Amino acid sequence: MSIGIAIIGTGRIAEVGFIPAISKANGAKIVSILSRDMLRGEKFAKKHGINSVYTDIDLLLKDPLVDAVIVCTPDAMHESQVIKACRSGKHVLCEKPMSTSVNSCLEMIAEIEKSKIIFAMGFNNRFNAGLKYIKNIIKNNEIGQIRYARAFVTTPQNDPNGWRAIGKQSAFWALSATGTHMIDIWRWYFGNPSSICASYTSPLYGGPNDEISNIIFEYKDKLLAEITAAAILPRANRIEVYSETESIVGENVFGIVTDEIIFRNGKKVDINPCDSFFEEVSDFIDSINRNAEPNSTYKDGLENLMIMEKSREHNFPVDL
Ligand SMILES: NC(=O)c1ccc[n+]([C@@H]2O[C@H](COP(=O)([O-])OP(=O)(O)OC[C@H]3O[C@@H](n4cnc5c(N)ncnc54)[C@H](OP(=O)(O)O)[C@@H]3O)[C@@H](O)[C@H]2O)c1
Repeated sequence: MSIGIAIIGTGRIAEVGFIPAISKANGAKIVSILSRDMLRGEKFAKKHGINSVYTDIDLLLKDPLVDAVIVCTPDAMHESQVIKACRSGKHVLCEKPMSTSVNSCLEMIAEIEKSKIIFAMGFNNRFNAGLKYIKNIIKNNEIGQIRYARAFVTTPQNDPNGWRAIGKQSAFWALSATGTHMIDIWRWYFGNPSSICASYTSPLYGGPNDEISNIIFEYKDKLLAEITAAAILPRANRIEVYSETESIVGENVFGIVTDEIIFRNGKKVDINPCDSFFEEVSDFIDSINRNAEPNSTYKDGLENLMIMEKSREHNFPVDL
């Protein structure tokens, strides 16, 4: 049986991430889309061969052809759209970050738990080949205890008037765009940190949300892991992981279709790049079919946002 998927939002990630991924996936098809504007929606639907367009989410969720939704709207809209989907019994793949605050995630989780739906968090980077390669090395304890790790990813979403920057539809800019992915990778590799310290700065436009943010994760008496996310710097997309004896350095490891280059102790490793959105959608479909937990869950969404929120509360805690 084919799963009918509705895409909520007609923006970049819907178009470059999910449409190609669902088109390639087995056992699902796109049955409708939601746009705030009928003409824009129809143009988008025509371009991608989608049969039905809605401007009202309540009507979309009543459509019996819709079994699942993929929420691809600005962060602040995720809560109400996910809650409505849960109440309609539709499965959800929610783009990252889960929402804009911990409280909002908790509201969503109360509805997810009441419903019988599958909820998947959109941490697609867990499916990328280079990041999976590093995960397996750590899981198999191949290089001993990791002592230091850092990741630095910039975003092309650098419009100071965009929704991430101006603060109404998102509580974070660089952290929402790329930081949340790096937080997820550290949580996936190492678990939750025992403490964090953080610094945010907005030196170019001075808006409400972070232009550059840095968080250091402390895993007490074991490891320091650092992330830097930036919205105003030239392209960077890298990860470095060090044990006492070995190093792994990866370039171009985060993103939709990556072109990763991984060096282990300075020697290039063979990696077969893949489309992480295709893998993510396939995992979502498989979870629905098997009524099983997806690769990333609402717990990952919540705990990720806890770190984001705390990092802002404790931004530069000590004055000199
Ligand atoms: N996993 C990843 O790597 C990844 C990458 C990029 C983005 N994302 C996430 O995906 C979500 C969407 O991001 P995006 O880059 O696709 O954003 P985008 O290009 O701005 O698209 C968002 C879409 O949401 C709809 N929308 C509804 N209300 C809106 C509002 N008030 N302001 C702006 N758009 C509104 C719009 O469609 P209509 O105009 O048709 O209503 C718009 O096209 C975000 O949560 C983001 O963090 C994830």
